Amino acid sequence: MHFFQPFDLSMWEFNPFTKVSKELFLLAAGDKEKANAMTAGWGGMGVIWGKNVVFVFVRESRYTRELMDKYDTFSVNFLGDNKKSIMTYFGKVSGRDEDKIANARMNVDYEGETPYLDESNLVLICKKLSKTELSPDQFLDPEIEPAMYKDGDYHYMYIGEIEKIMAR
Ligand SMILES: Cc1cc2nc3c(=O)[nH]c(=O)nc-3n(C[C@H](O)[C@H](O)[C@H](O)COP(=O)(O)O)c2cc1C
Repeated sequence: MHFFQPFDLSMWEFNPFTKVSKELFLLAAGDKEKANAMTAGWGGMGVIWGKNVVFVFVRESRYTRELMDKYDTFSVNFLGDNKKSIMTYFGKVSGRDEDKIANARMNVDYEGETPYLDESNLVLICKKLSKTELSPDQFLDPEIEPAMYKDGDYHYMYIGEIEKIMAR
């Protein structure tokens, strides 16, 4: 088990575009019986409702979406660069079919009730604030629907308040 320490937002120095879309992150949710994580490449951070937040986009079909709905919190886990095989595995296989965390020989830790990946180097513990369906009637650019949603598997946007940042 690794030792994490609190990380203050004022120390945060990274490019959100490369951090999220190149490094990617694992979105984890669940409880002490069963936790799951999936690779995500869409998301961001900012200030909404006067709170420091993350927003992540999860399609209806994902098992992680079920767990995001069931529990009040989730975690955003950054593993660092060069984790391509892990990201590919967590982005292809569903936690409905296998225990991805165990199969990847990774470990789950808990911050309170919230699962996170012990192998991360930066973890955001988040409390759900809202869930919004991205439905076709909201798209103003006509290219979005045919490019992204031919199969009708729409994303939900979850906004989560960053309750704690942990780094090692
Ligand atoms: C590079 C990459 C980025 C991804 N980003 C997202 C994303 O932002 N949102 C999403 O819903 N699925 C995304 N996926 C797909 C999920 O990770 C994938 O469907 C996963 O198997 C879902 O696992 P689950 O059923 O255990 O939740 C991505 C996959 C890859 C490979």
